[in-house]
Amino acid sequence: MLRSKIGGLGFYVPEKVVTNHDLTRVMDTSDEWIQERTGIVERRYAKKHEESTSTMGAKAAAIAIERAGITPQDVDFIIFATLSPDYYFPGSGVLMQRIMGLNGIGALDIRNQCSGFVYGLSIADQFVKTGMYKNVLLVGSEFHSAGLDFSTRGRNVTVIFGDGAGAVVVQPTEEDGKGILSTHLHADGEYAEKLAYINPGCHGGAHLDAEKYGYPDQEFGGAFLTKKMWEDEDYYPNMEGQAVFKMAVQKFPEVIMEALTANNLSPSDIDLLVPHQANLRISQFVQKRMGLSDDQVWNNIQKYGNTTAASVPIALCEAWEAGKVNSGDLVCLAAFGSGFTWGSALIRW
Ligand code: COA
Repeated sequence: MLRSKIGGLGFYVPEKVVTNHDLTRVMDTSDEWIQERTGIVERRYAKKHEESTSTMGAKAAAIAIERAGITPQDVDFIIFATLSPDYYFPGSGVLMQRIMGLNGIGALDIRNQCSGFVYGLSIADQFVKTGMYKNVLLVGSEFHSAGLDFSTRGRNVTVIFGDGAGAVVVQPTEEDGKGILSTHLHADGEYAEKLAYINPGCHGGAHLDAEKYGYPDQEFGGAFLTKKMWEDEDYYPNMEGQAVFKMAVQKFPEVIMEALTANNLSPSDIDLLVPHQANLRISQFVQKRMGLSDDQVWNNIQKYGNTTAASVPIALCEAWEAGKVNSGDLVCLAAFGSGFTWGSALIRW
């Protein structure tokens, strides 16, 4: 049976390192608080006006393409996952396509936040195993630092997130038993506002709290960003941290077990679990719940923070570069995030 595999992978993180101590200069927080609650020590921030979500994506993509043993012209479809796009529209996929000179092929942007890469991998898998495409370029990239609230008001969100990009090329394989074994995707919109970036948007937040957000002040237009939102600086992401934590530690093990059960496997068969780097405490909880050893789980949030759609491909690529992903290994990718959305992918490397 034709399956798809990850044929090449790459990542890019900006040069600028921002430590927890650096953040204490602009908001009321501490290295101790951040490390204790999230495990994060430092993160990277992209260079404003020089870098963007699409330029970082292009850098990661170039490495993945080379390692896949193909040229950029061999890529026949692009999937781009981000929640921090260069423009509101068009998507960052076409902007990266232009940078890379891949004009003409299809480019699809997906908005599934922290699960974006796993969702994208599932889409790429369907295209490749049905024979429609041979080389699908899948990129996750985020420029969070451009849209965070650096005042004390935003500290619960801002300290968690970092910038970066990861990319893979998904290709067909006929090697017996190898490749992407399955993907499982889930969502529950009931929790949409628990971790959300609501304004600017066409709802103008009015359906949630008209008093707070104000209605559009003109008969036509004006709903994306009302005067009141602007005055209140109400254009930042917000998160109910404990609700996210509670659901994440439930859904991660569930969706990993779903993948294992579908393939008649058990946690002890996993050679490497690469969880979305939401929070080190969440990963540790999942590891313990599933009875996995330190050697079976890859974490790098300490260095990069939570890079949302980029976190799984960055972590996977780093693990691969460190020699932790070898031919025949059972690799499990799992993600949970805003939406809420969550998913897993099981790969025999
Ligand atoms: N520095 C210092 N203090 C902070 C802070 C920061 N960066 N952020 C919040 N606080 C304060 C709060 O204001 C609050 O103060 P108060 O008690 O005086 O009101 C106190 O710390 C506790 O806040 P709370 O939100 O209850 O903390 P918590 O123990 O739930 O930890 C998170 C907050 C965000 C670390 C935690 O909820 C979490 O990890 N959630 C999951 C987040 C996540 O993974 N998101 C990504 C999903 S993809």
